[in-house]
Amino acid sequence: MEKYIIKGGKKLSGEVVISGAKNAVVAILPAVILSDEPCVIENIPGISDVSITLQIMSEMGAKIRMINKTSVEIDPRGIMNVPIPYEKAKRMRATTYFLGTLLGRFHSAHVSMPGGCNLGDRPIDQHLKCFAALGTKCELDGGMIHLSADRLVGNQIFFDKNSVGATINGIMAAVKAEGLTIIENAAKEPHVVDLANCLNSMGADIIGAGTDVIKIRGVRSLHGTTYSVIPDQIEAGTFMAVAAATKSDIIIRNVIPKHLEPITNKLIKIGVQVEQFDDYVRVIGGENYVGTSIKTHPHPGFPTDMQPQISTVLTCASGTSMITESIFDNRFRYVDELRRMGANISVEGRVAVIEGVEKLKGAPVRATDLRAGAALIIAALGAEGTSEIYDIYHIERGYENMEIKLRDLGADIKKVDEPDIPETETKQAI
Ligand code: EPZ
Repeated sequence: MEKYIIKGGKKLSGEVVISGAKNAVVAILPAVILSDEPCVIENIPGISDVSITLQIMSEMGAKIRMINKTSVEIDPRGIMNVPIPYEKAKRMRATTYFLGTLLGRFHSAHVSMPGGCNLGDRPIDQHLKCFAALGTKCELDGGMIHLSADRLVGNQIFFDKNSVGATINGIMAAVKAEGLTIIENAAKEPHVVDLANCLNSMGADIIGAGTDVIKIRGVRSLHGTTYSVIPDQIEAGTFMAVAAATKSDIIIRNVIPKHLEPITNKLIKIGVQVEQFDDYVRVIGGENYVGTSIKTHPHPGFPTDMQPQISTVLTCASGTSMITESIFDNRFRYVDELRRMGANISVEGRVAVIEGVEKLKGAPVRATDLRAGAALIIAALGAEGTSEIYDIYHIERGYENMEIKLRDLGADIKKVDEPDIPETETKQAI
């Protein structure tokens, strides 16, 4: 079982380059299935969610050729509409995107209910509502979702809940439907815009992505493209939090500052210095931070995927901070681990109240999901003493070369592999 060992308390320095956006690429790669020609996707991150997605597509019959470490050519013409079973779907949430893309191309899809982070209830009722509005019959049988449609016909859809996944699936199902589809209360995240831009580069006719009304006029076919994925706003925000927690001065390259605005504004309010340039930011951590209140919201609000990371910075800010998680009903599972490091946090439902402490202390902790794992790395880097972080596979799902990037900034971090110890012993150990 692999773990990180981190010796905290060191100031970092230098530059880090942000990789392509995980939540954009896990939508853009399956979207290639809608094309009648090969596509080249560039700036893809080397993370396990990408390798799982490419493996699924290859097993369906796509021809996959890695052009280099960050570019892949995908020829979707040989793809067969085979079911995606649970053992594949349970490994990541984004397998839901195969519903929209296979439905859009084949007018049917058979995908197991998704897996992914354990953040509480994650239904897909809005996805199914969208598919049904386009003329699809949706059936759930033995954990498998079966979609079928004689024809896909454009319609007007109003999402009862603002959903990134349902918006993305709706766009992919509608791009080749007959006529006009209007999606209202659409998600506005940068990765939704990135998918729409990629599909438009393949000949789709999508307008309004990034606003809450997206109009998709169906086209008969989509052609090939060469498309570069946007930089990962959450990876960039995570490294901004690293700079804050370690009171370091670091340059974070390959970012779109506009995408970071909600994160930048909160860090500045806490007492972190952020200088913005065209495609990079400089983050200068301060000696003293002040507590604040943060409520997560769909974009352009403060992103839920940065909630664990900013909360960790606030554990050592003076005064009281209040974190309200308005997107997921269980995104504070990392709090128990931070308490092991001396954080003073109380959680009531979707609200965490943080009383600032002087410093965290290193301890053995366990990553409970992707962003919780990132938060524990931030805590360990800023803490006094040594920490061990277990279950780092969560982190490697969404962060490319995390320990190498941190080591290049001067962090004392190493990844070690040790024999699995029985669950009960592990529980006792940490
Ligand atoms: C995407 O998940 C991201 N994952 C998540 O990032 C991110 O936290 C989330 O959007 C919110 O920004 C990917 O893009 C692969 P939602 P998704 O549908 O699409 C409820 C990370 O750390 N809902 O916007 O699953 C849902 O339960 C991951 O990178 C319904 O009720 O999120 C949640 O409470 C974690 N019915 C809220 O809406 C539905 O049909 C937002 O979910 C769909 C969602």
